[in-house]
Amino acid sequence: MKNFKGLVAVMGVSVFIFTGVAELFAGPLLPLRKNPGVYHHSMGRAGQGICPQERLTAQAPEDISRLKNPLPPTQKNLDAGESLYHRDVQPTACKICHGDSGNGLGMMTEGLNPPPRNFTCKETMQGISDGQLFWIIKNGSPGTGMPAYRDLSETQVWQMIHFIRQFAER
Ligand code: HEC
Repeated sequence: MKNFKGLVAVMGVSVFIFTGVAELFAGPLLPLRKNPGVYHHSMGRAGQGICPQERLTAQAPEDISRLKNPLPPTQKNLDAGESLYHRDVQPTACKICHGDSGNGLGMMTEGLNPPPRNFTCKETMQGISDGQLFWIIKNGSPGTGMPAYRDLSETQVWQMIHFIRQFAER
């Protein structure tokens, strides 16, 4: 055991180097609007994304599909939606698939068939009701890469829907 300290030192240095290298490949750090001191990685590709996008997603039940976002699109709600989308949701932040700019070209899109929704595509997004977005975020889209986010409160989901809608308005 006389090399134990040396071993620990080598392991420590390796972890340090590994995280440094990982940072390099994770893309540039971007500030969150609400909290300019807090950064998150972009992790994805720039570009327009697929538009219009073929949609074979299951339809939400009628009564859910008809729901309108009950929250006002205040800056507070948009900021909360932004933090959730980019960083705070479990198990995986939305941007990893849907992209930092909402273009559907996040870093995990490789091999996903169907591909993640391109939120910047007006043509496709116009045809999707608030209630439908809510339903898929809560329940996922079975048989696709879109996970269910059951632990989010309804308020959190509606906040994210305000944030997602903005991508097609730019
Ligand atoms: C692991 C990848 C992945 C993650 C993470 C992910 N999505 Fe998706 N998402 C997808 C895929 C793939 C689809 C396309 C599903 C389909 O075509 O039915 C999709 C579709 C959607 C749709 C479209 C629903 C419709 O009816 O067209 C919405 C809304 C959505 N995701 C929101 C989110 C939100 C919000 C988050 C984060 C809370 C998120 N997604 C996280 C992969 C992902």
